[in-house]
Amino acid sequence: MFVTCQVGAEPAVKAEVAAQWPESRFAFSRPGFLTFKLPADLATTTTPTLRSVFARTVGWSLGPVKGDTPESRAAAVWHLVSEKAADHRFDRLHVWQRDTTAAGHRGFEPGITPAATAALQLLIELEPPKAEPSDWTATTRRGDRVLDCILIDDTTWWVGHHRSWTRPQGWPGGFWPGTAPAEIVSRAYLKMAEALDWSGMALETGQTAAEIGCAPGGASQALLDRGLRVVGIDPADVDTRVLAHPNFTHIRKRGVEVKRRQFRSVQWLMADMNVPPEITLTTLEGIVTFADLHVRGVIANLKLADWKLAADVPQYLTQIRGWGFDHVSARQLGHNRQEICVAAWKESARRQNIGNSPRRHGDTEEGNDQ
Ligand SMILES: C[S@@+](CC[C@H](N)C(=O)[O-])C[C@H]1O[C@@H](n2cnc3c(N)ncnc32)[C@H](O)[C@@H]1O
Repeated sequence: MFVTCQVGAEPAVKAEVAAQWPESRFAFSRPGFLTFKLPADLATTTTPTLRSVFARTVGWSLGPVKGDTPESRAAAVWHLVSEKAADHRFDRLHVWQRDTTAAGHRGFEPGITPAATAALQLLIELEPPKAEPSDWTATTRRGDRVLDCILIDDTTWWVGHHRSWTRPQGWPGGFWPGTAPAEIVSRAYLKMAEALDWSGMALETGQTAAEIGCAPGGASQALLDRGLRVVGIDPADVDTRVLAHPNFTHIRKRGVEVKRRQFRSVQWLMADMNVPPEITLTTLEGIVTFADLHVRGVIANLKLADWKLAADVPQYLTQIRGWGFDHVSARQLGHNRQEICVAAWKESARRQNIGNSPRRHGDTEEGNDQ
């Protein structure tokens, strides 16, 4: 099995794998890229069903290819596929580069790199001829069989495959493929837009969201762009472009200082405070468990000031499950830095079609939890 993740999250991924499959063995790794040997019976499923918060992608490994030029590596990919996966039919090709440094370090934003785009192009050009043309780069549909190629370093690419059952499994490299408008108030816009898409929560125009820790206002801007009314709670200054929006109200207070009745019209509760996770959770708990309120869903970023806090994530999720939501999910988003995003919602608050496209005929299998 291979896993890609943020640089720095590797020990957290290893702990998740060891907790679920104690008999697994850690194998080749580089920052942001890990492989594991799993018992043979697990490898018979079409996608590893790893329950992971920190894995950005998970798949079965076919192995590495080496070569001094991109052309030789691309040719070696097809050779490896013909040798090891001759009986597989692949619908899509995902190509990405492992993260080379920690998210945010010197402005590094994980994502599809020019080298990955060039490698994808080369792979398509060098694909051995076959009867049916492949639609390698079209949007990945639910149930698609995906051939994965990960750029490891200047001489090595890694080949693998997975089935796409969840939204992020359909995104090459697990990177959210959306874009933001040219003028965003802060990069929290991207975090919120990715969180909404990943969680599949059904926010609707005219509904009200509150965000605790809203300044300077990127996430609020993303919500306003979706037609929501936004109550932004933060003692700090909010950008004038957000303040000027007719659907935005600023409460210049800390979360715990806001009276519960001020959340009466709130359906969606968001939190993005730069405080320890326990404080974010206590603040949210006081609101969502208050009898008179009707919060349908929560999206919270929990800051892991120290990577050691990753070990406490299962405990945080247990606490949130106790708030009466039907679903609780967590993922280190592509746009999260040293933090994770948790989404919790009531059944009625989910978009009908959570897959990345209509279900394919005959699908019966579920994939991992990501
Ligand atoms: C990462 S920034 C939030 C970015 C913001 N979500 C955006 O979209 O631009 C963290 C914010 O949390 C705020 N904060 C910290 N403790 C808070 C509390 N107890 N209540 C409300 N806001 C808090 C800080 O003032 C800071 O503006």
